[in-house]
Formats: sequence, structure tokens, C-alpha cells
Amino acid sequence: MITTAPRGTQDVLPQESYKWHFIEGKLMDLARRYGFSEVRTPTFEHTGLFDRGVGDTTDIVQKEMYTFQDKGSRSITLRPEGTAGVARCVLEHGLLNNPLPLKLSYLINCFRYEKPQAGRFREFRQFGAEVFGSQDPAVDAEVIALVADIFTTLGISDIALELNSIGCPNCRPAYHEKLRAYFAQHIDSLCPTCRERLEKNPLRILDCKNDSCKEVAKGAPLGIDNLCGECADHFASLKERLTAMDIPFTVNPQIVRGLDYYTKTVFEFVSTSIGAQGTVCGGGRYDGLLETLGGPSTPAIGFAVGLQRLLAVMENDGASLGEPPACDIFLASIGQGASVEAQKLALRLRRAGLHAESDVQGRSLKAQMKYADKLGARYTVVLGDDEVKTGQIKLKRMDDGQVEETTLEALPALLCEK
Ligand code: HAM
Repeated sequence: MITTAPRGTQDVLPQESYKWHFIEGKLMDLARRYGFSEVRTPTFEHTGLFDRGVGDTTDIVQKEMYTFQDKGSRSITLRPEGTAGVARCVLEHGLLNNPLPLKLSYLINCFRYEKPQAGRFREFRQFGAEVFGSQDPAVDAEVIALVADIFTTLGISDIALELNSIGCPNCRPAYHEKLRAYFAQHIDSLCPTCRERLEKNPLRILDCKNDSCKEVAKGAPLGIDNLCGECADHFASLKERLTAMDIPFTVNPQIVRGLDYYTKTVFEFVSTSIGAQGTVCGGGRYDGLLETLGGPSTPAIGFAVGLQRLLAVMENDGASLGEPPACDIFLASIGQGASVEAQKLALRLRRAGLHAESDVQGRSLKAQMKYADKLGARYTVVLGDDEVKTGQIKLKRMDDGQVEETTLEALPALLCEK
């Protein structure tokens, strides 16, 4: 047991980690170009933050949170998502006093006790971005443009944007009444959780994973047909801007999202190439969240991309994931004096920014060269007593065997240019 990672978690092995660096580097660079600054919040928060923020009728809060009591008898939860923690941080540190809109991005691990399957984990990584302080549909368009740019930049073509509007506190009460009336007619087909949700939050039934509830939900009235004038105008303006920016989308009235904080715009980017868990990115507007958490009424919108799913799509699409880091040079040595000299040289080369290795195992020259080959070293040098005495060395390029004469002194500068 203790030699196996817990179900739903993953090790990123040394030969894979460069792909993560590649993706995360691209994401952070794009976020920077769109004006986002990185924020880092705690891995765990007070449980009440998610009860209130994500919503106590959601699957996440009702079934999926890793919640425990700490030694001070506080209820603590490993974050199931990033938005609630970022919103808490914004309020706690008065970040809304900065020029608005406030744009924050983050790279985090999240934890949900879900049934693991391809693309669904109990610990997973998200890249997210949040914008606070504007209700203008131009911000919705900009946030969606960032996500679209992420996929284009990473070379992903198999991805589609699905868009919906789920209304606001003005249009929702009437819509909820319609939903209640509809689901009340089908109460026998609803799961026990959804029967409880019927009074408190009938919208959640539209998001239930139970097969029977899903079947009933297919005939339910749609939010998009029940928007107030302001929400309808907002949605129309967003669509107009996306069209102007050449960002293709389809309206999918079934999208309700699994978190309670959303208002107006909701969206998902879905891939068909990675199986049932094809939603690579989810996001939307949450104009009421900060107020719910005790802050001032502040419109906001954001998204999160699931990095395990993003990587799977990229591998499927044959997109570039960078190169595994290669060893620049292996310094072989013959004898004790040369071995000391090789280690000194390795130090100089590393300080010059190169990946250099020397023998630290007292191996034979043949074994050292075999090791250099396994490392995939681009160059090798063999140091013996003569080389140490004269400072003259032969630099060998490993892929074609070409040899170049140089000196110990000149090696770092020469190699940095290659
Ligand atoms: P979410 O849709 O729950 O939204 O998650 C966003 C993304 O995280 C999903 O599209 C998926 O790629 C990934 N994801 C979610 N659960 C799992 C899992 N169990 N295993 C692997 N990947 C997963 C949110 O979390 C919101 N906070 C997004 C947001 C930010 N909305 C506004 N701002």
C-alpha cells in the first residue's frame, strides 16, 4: 500500500517534467501579455469559504471535498478549485483598491474526491485567471480570447468553445420557479440529492451526474430562454465581440457549470479527442461572489484550464511539448589529478549556465564514455595528465564525431556560443 500513490493521484516522472515546464511557461507568458499578475494562495482554506463560495448544493461541496479537522478543531478543506481562495485573498488584502480591473492568474493543485477515470483525478493541476471590477462584456470577450490564444499558441486545433448565459439575480427567481414546476412533475425520477435540491437550488439538478436525473433534465426549460433584458443584451454584446475577433463559438444552452457562483456568461472549451472528460477549460462570470463572501458588490469573471487534460489533448494532437533537457558536456578523466581538474571545470561550466557532468564514480574511461552516451551529452572532453599540464583539450561533438582543438580556459565561452 505505502509503495503505491493514493488513487486518483499522479507522479510526474523526471522524463516527463519538462513537458509541464513547457506548458506552464507558455501559460504564464500569455497571461503576462494579457496583463495578469500571478497570485499564490494557500492549498487549504477554511471549509466555510467553499460552502459559501462554491455553494452548499453543488456536488463539489456535498460529495467531493477533502475536509478535515485540524489539531485546533478548525474545519479545513483542501481547495477543490481556485476562484474562492483568490476572491478571499482579494478581499483580505484590499486588492480592489488597485486600479481596476484587477487581473490575477494562478497555477495550483486542486483536490476533489471524484471517481478517478481517464482525465479525472483526485489531485489535479489548474491554470486559472480572474478579472475583478468590470461587468462590461468586453472583459468576458477578453478573457475568452486569452483562453482561445492559449490553445492556438500551444498548437491545439481540436477544441471548441461552447457558450451560454445563465442569468442574474433579476431573472433567476422566475426561471427557478419554472424549473421547480417542471421537476416537481418528475420527482419520482430524481435522485435523493436532487429531490433535496428542488426547493433550495433547482438549477443544480441540471448538472447532476445521475443518469435518471440527466434524462429528466433534457426536457427542462432553458435558462437562455428566460433571461432578463440586461442579461440578454450582455450576451448579445459578448457574441458580437467574439465574432469581431474571429473566435468561433457555439451556444450550448445545456451548460450550467458545477459551481454556484456563476451569473450571466458561462463557457467551456471542449475537445473530442480525449474521451468522456473532454472539458479542458471551464469559466464564467460571478458578479455576486465577493458580496456573498462579505465584500463589496464587485463584478468578476474568470476561467481555469485543467493541465492534465490540456497535456492529453496536446499529446493527441501531436503538438510540440518542448525538448527534454540535454547534457551539454561530459568531462571524462583519467587519473586522480585529472578527475579533480574535471570537477573544477564542471563547476566553471555550470556557473556559466551549462549542464556539465564529470565522473564522480571513479569509472574506467570506457564506462565513462558509455555513461556520456546514455546521458545524451552533446559534447565530451577527455582530461588526462597532458591536458591538465598544457591546458590544450579536444572537444568532441557526439552526434558526428567532429573534433575541435581548444583550451580549458576558453571552453566555457566557446560552449556557450554553441
Ligand atoms: P471547473 O470546471 O470545476 O471550474 O474546473 C476547471 C477545469 O479543471 C476543468 O475544465 C477540467 O479541465 C479541470 N478539472 C476539474 N476537475 C478535474 C478532475 N477531477 N481531474 C482533472 N481535471 C479536472 C473551476 O474550477 C472554476 N474555478 C473555474 C473558474 C475560474 N470560473 C471562474 N473562474
